[in-house]
Amino acid sequence: MATLPERSLIDKAADLIRGAQYLAVLTGAGVSAESGVPTFRDKDGLWDKYDVTTLATLDAFLADPAFVWKWYDWRRTLIVKVAPNPAHDAIAKLEARMKLAEKGFALITQNIDNLHRLAGSSDPIELHGNIWKVRCLKSCRKGAAPFDLLDSPLKEIPPKCPHCGGIVRPHIVWFGEMLDPEDIRRAFEAAAQADVMIVVGTSNLVYPSAALPYHVMEDGGKVIEVNLGVTGLSGDADVVLTGPAGEILPKLV
Ligand code: OAD
Repeated sequence: MATLPERSLIDKAADLIRGAQYLAVLTGAGVSAESGVPTFRDKDGLWDKYDVTTLATLDAFLADPAFVWKWYDWRRTLIVKVAPNPAHDAIAKLEARMKLAEKGFALITQNIDNLHRLAGSSDPIELHGNIWKVRCLKSCRKGAAPFDLLDSPLKEIPPKCPHCGGIVRPHIVWFGEMLDPEDIRRAFEAAAQADVMIVVGTSNLVYPSAALPYHVMEDGGKVIEVNLGVTGLSGDADVVLTGPAGEILPKLV
């Protein structure tokens, strides 16, 4: 069993959260690891086993949509079987408490697995998209906005746009692509308002997400990191809680 941080560190983080007028939570793949969803950069992570350039770029998709879709279909069949873990539940509880106290709250996630919503988080800002949504590759009028495609496994690969019959693509931000400007706006607005941000289970290497904790700190806010290991943020965060998110976050709540 993993060693948990000292009680005094948990208390320090809990005091910061209790005093917050606006709490932001930023999550990465580590928050879903205890549900059984693979992370990206850990040992045996997805980018350890698979080549990003053949799976997570528009060029790769255009070269072989069926190949890329088979990989996403595999990830969807894995994700459909898993459930939120105590870390997701704790984040949903924090939101409920902040709202009950009429304080501000925002959840920003880099995850595409939808587990925060399943745990009861009301409005996560999904910076990198959602694996259950697709959009028309040709951006036909009706299929341009993301829509649900929930079949798992998929009935046909590559799946077709119900409106124009063209191919749909996963509503996921691939390498080299821009994030949705509205998601970026909301995330940076949350960071500007937050006096405390909890950063959970991310290597904090991918921008612009990785800049968010620094925005909070620049404005005098405090950052609490919850992670199994050490990241580039660990030396800058106000409180670093080392251990599994599914054990630490319920203690904080
Ligand atoms: P990474 O795989 O880069 O980092 C996962 C982090 O979670 C690491 O720092 C681990 O130490 C930590 N971790 C693992 N298990 C944990 C646990 N049980 N409790 C707490 N921490 C744990 O994943 P992300 O930082 O989310 O983008 O990666 C960011 C983005 O890079 C992803 O959204 C994805 C990827 O390329 C896209 O696909 C667009």
